[in-house]
Amino acid sequence: MRGSTHKLRLWPLLGVAAFIAAATPLRAEPFPADLLADKGIDGFVTVERLPLPEDAQLLEGRAVWEETCQNCHGGNRLTGAPKITATDAWAPRIEQGLAVLFDHAINGFTGPKYTQMPPRGGNDDLSDAQVQAAVRFMVWASGGDVLATE
Ligand code: HEC
Repeated sequence: MRGSTHKLRLWPLLGVAAFIAAATPLRAEPFPADLLADKGIDGFVTVERLPLPEDAQLLEGRAVWEETCQNCHGGNRLTGAPKITATDAWAPRIEQGLAVLFDHAINGFTGPKYTQMPPRGGNDDLSDAQVQAAVRFMVWASGGDVLATE
């Protein structure tokens, strides 16, 4: 009978373990801090200049970003698009939270200086999920790695 008492005693511990697992947020994959700068890393940023993420969602976002978003967000000053890796430009945007960023990327957005983010970056073939993945990739690579995989 000793064995069964032991088993019974383990139940509360399992409960505590499950509670801790549920309460611990997913840990975001860290982005190397030395690839961030106030104004972004020098020159035009392409995906090859950034580390390859492991997270499946970020990987998908990377592909979408390269195809549609990089043209402007790689550092095209004429468009006024915030450059990926530029923490000054991204910090206040990241502060808005993912829901607002998703909405602005999917539906388009005009900033206070009348620079325009076109809906879906101008690529109507992209699904909501693809645009959202690209936003996560940008946030991850612009000082928001904790938020990126939430
Ligand atoms: C034609 C250029 C262009 C393309 C292509 C483009 N963007 Fe943008 N994007 C902009 C500009 C300009 C802004 C800044 C608008 C402002 O705040 O003045 C912006 C801002 C954003 C923001 C920040 C919105 C906010 O609330 O601060 C997100 C997120 C974003 N773009 C995501 C994307 C994604 C994802 C793609 C690709 C699917 C993409 N963009 C493609 C020009 C572009």
